[in-house]
Amino acid sequence: LGRKISPEEQPWCLDKVTGKVVISKGLENICIDKSTICYIDGFHSKLYYRGYSIEDLAKNSTYEETVYLILYGKLPTRRELNDFSGWMREERDIPREVVELLAKIPRDIEPMEMLRTAVSYLGNLDPGRHDMSLEGVMRKTIRLISKMPTIIAYWYRIRNGKETVYPDPRLNHAENFLYMMHGEKPEQILAKAMDVSFILYAEHEMNASAFTAVVIASTLSDYYSAIVGAIGALRGPLHGYANVEAMRQFDEIGSPENVDKWYQEYILTGKKRVMGAGHRVYKTYDPRAKIFREYAREFAERYGGRVKTYYQIADRLEGYVMKQLCETRNICTNCDFWSGIVYYAMGIPVDLYCAVFAAARTVGWSAHVVEYVTENRILRPRLYYDGEIEREYVLIENR
Ligand SMILES: CC(C)(COP(=O)(O)OP(=O)(O)OC[C@H]1O[C@@H](n2cnc3c(N)ncnc32)[C@H](O)[C@@H]1OP(=O)(O)O)[C@@H](O)C(=O)NCCC(=O)NCCS
Repeated sequence: LGRKISPEEQPWCLDKVTGKVVISKGLENICIDKSTICYIDGFHSKLYYRGYSIEDLAKNSTYEETVYLILYGKLPTRRELNDFSGWMREERDIPREVVELLAKIPRDIEPMEMLRTAVSYLGNLDPGRHDMSLEGVMRKTIRLISKMPTIIAYWYRIRNGKETVYPDPRLNHAENFLYMMHGEKPEQILAKAMDVSFILYAEHEMNASAFTAVVIASTLSDYYSAIVGAIGALRGPLHGYANVEAMRQFDEIGSPENVDKWYQEYILTGKKRVMGAGHRVYKTYDPRAKIFREYAREFAERYGGRVKTYYQIADRLEGYVMKQLCETRNICTNCDFWSGIVYYAMGIPVDLYCAVFAAARTVGWSAHVVEYVTENRILRPRLYYDGEIEREYVLIENR
């Protein structure tokens, strides 16, 4: 017979005032550190990177400039930006060994699993892989964020049996990604939307994947392990893969006319969750969703066809969510609800959307790794032990 441990024997789990066990399931509202990278005001639909609102950044900035801002904490001068963009352009190509690896990876696996493998291998080939100095991590960050779109575009073309398209240093990050995907320069409006999507996905405070990266880095492990871990965390449908799942949900609904029936059958009965709705921090509309939604609307009008159908399904479903879930339970549509339609208009296959998200979010992961490790303390929470101790060990022949 064992013995149950009392709460008093686990004082680290007790509230100091009430003396009751406090369990913060999901680490909700636990502040693990101070930060100057990002502020989310989940009650007023606001998001700031280094103090600048994402509305201002989406309107006036570029992805390259936003990367600089997130990593260095200030807006660059024109000269600094030119140097920085030049550096990113130089780093775009990937080693031959990684291209060979991409050719070996099974073509039917999830792109996020491909990305995890490719980034890990890229780390093996990086001579500075164990350098965790500030400069070392910054160098690896620039290298990786410059190369990730190349990995995704090469993979996309390899799995479709097409020749890979070499990065073009004359194009900016977003244009170049679409160029490497499709083999031709994108329309300006699509390149701008891709640039904005990279900005909107670049950073989002201590979410599950950033936390994963920081947990790994806090053990003084290496940069690539932190990023590979973060890719694994982002790949879940409750996190970054929601932008893929949202599109699959629209496919399942099939037509705008079917939204009502589908909503009644699956959401009102609690059989499914709306993918691309709800958020741990936003208790009102996600400000990024507003910007993605506007592009989706514009592209639906401009391109018609499937893009328009997706938009109409999403628009109708969002109507239900906002009326029935957002007003009463603070479950509102988020950026992943809308971003997929924008990517669809760019001719990117649905299963790649989370990988595109990862390519941008690597900026935020890296910034948090740098910030946390600068004043490092290993992350090590506790569990409340609810089992027994001092159980009698019975030899196997007597069980
Ligand atoms: C994002 C998410 C994981 C946040 O989770 P969380 O803060 O832990 O919230 P919980 O899972 O505890 O959900 C709280 C309640 O809201 C409900 N809920 C949350 N998201 C919902 C959704 N998208 N659709 C329907 N109901 C939802 C839950 O069923 C739960 O209801 P209950 O209290 O009756 O059991 C969650 O909202 C979700 O699963 N969303 C869908 C996936 C998604 O879009 N992820 C991308 C986020 S950017």
